[in-house]
Amino acid sequence: MKKNEIMEKKKLSDGSYLFKIYNPEVAKNSYAGNFVIVIAKDGSERIPLTIMEYTDEWISIVIQPIGFSTKEICFLEEKDCFSGIMGPLGKKIENKKYGTILFVAGGIGIAPVIPQMMEFKKTDNKIILIHGARDGEHIILEKESKKYTDNYIICTDDGSMGKKGLVTNAMKELIESGEKIDHIVTIGPLIMMKFVSDLSKNYSIPTTASLNTIMLDGTGMCGSCRVEYDGEVKFACVDGPDMDAHKINFDVLLRRNARFKSLELVNGEKK
Ligand SMILES: Cc1cc2nc3c(=O)[nH]c(=O)nc-3n(C[C@H](O)[C@H](O)[C@H](O)COP(=O)(O)OP(=O)(O)OC[C@H]3O[C@@H](n4cnc5c(N)ncnc54)[C@H](O)[C@@H]3O)c2cc1C
Ligand code: FES
Repeated sequence: MKKNEIMEKKKLSDGSYLFKIYNPEVAKNSYAGNFVIVIAKDGSERIPLTIMEYTDEWISIVIQPIGFSTKEICFLEEKDCFSGIMGPLGKKIENKKYGTILFVAGGIGIAPVIPQMMEFKKTDNKIILIHGARDGEHIILEKESKKYTDNYIICTDDGSMGKKGLVTNAMKELIESGEKIDHIVTIGPLIMMKFVSDLSKNYSIPTTASLNTIMLDGTGMCGSCRVEYDGEVKFACVDGPDMDAHKINFDVLLRRNARFKSLELVNGEKK
C-alpha cells in the first residue's frame, strides 16, 4: 500500500463521498477536532477536510462536492493516490465529562461530529444529536450516529424524514422540555452555527462551534482564516477549528467567507 493511497471510496446517499486513505503517520497522530489539508493532484488547490475516523494506518474523510476542487477530489478512485496530505492540523478537542452534550449538526457537518461523539462517549457523557438537512436524502451516516447517541433527533426542511423544520426549533423544544444540557457543540454551515450560538446564549449554555473558514496554509501563516474572537484576532486553523461560539463575531466571518464567491464561479466555469 502506498502513502496517500485510496483504500476505499464509498458514495453516500446525499452524493458526498467517504474516502479511506492510507497514511499511518497522519493516522497515528490524529484525534477528534483535527483536520487535514489535501491536494488531489500536483498543482491542485489545498482543501481543508476534517478527519472523521483514525486508526494506526488510515484515516477517513467525508467530502461534499460543492466547487471545483472538491469535485476534483471526488473524481479520484480506489488505488489512486492523493498528491499530498498535510496533518493532522488544528487543535484536538478537550475531552472531559461535561454531563449532557448536545451536538447540533447541519448537512455534511455530521462528519466532524462523529469522532467528537465517539470520544465524548468514552468519557461517559450523555450524547444528544440533532442532525438537520434539507431532506431525508441528505441525512447521512445514520448508522454511525446511532452508535454514539443516547437521543438522536433528525430534522428536515421538507419533513421527508424526522421532524419538519430547522435544527434551532428542535433545539429550543428540547431545552424547554426540561432536558438539562451542559454543553453544546455545533458543526455545519456558518449561518446555522450563528443561530445555534445566538439561541444557546439566551439559555447561558456554553457552546463550541467548529469553524469552516477559508484556509490556505493551515498553519497560522497566511491569515486567510482570520476570525474576530472576543475583540481579538484569532486564526481558526491553529486556535481552532473548535472555538467558543459566544466569542465569535459570526457577522464578520460570514462576510469574509463570501469574499471569493464571484471568482470561484468564474474559475468553476472556466475549468
Ligand atoms: C477545518 C475545516 C474542515 C472542513 N471539513 C470538511 C469536511 O469534512 N467535508 C467537506 O465536504 N468540507 C469540509 N470543509 C469545507 C471544504 O474545505 C470546502 O467545501 C472546500 O474548500 C471548497 O472548495 P471548492 O474549490 O470545492 O469550492 P469553491 O469553489 O472554493 O467554493 C464553492 C462554494 O462553497 C463555499 N465555500 C468555500 N470554502 C468553504 C468553506 N471552507 N466552508 C464553507 N463553504 C465554503 C464558497 O463560498 C462557494 O459558495 C472544511 C473546511 C474547514 C476549514
Ligand atoms: S489558513 Fe492560513 S492562517 Fe489559517
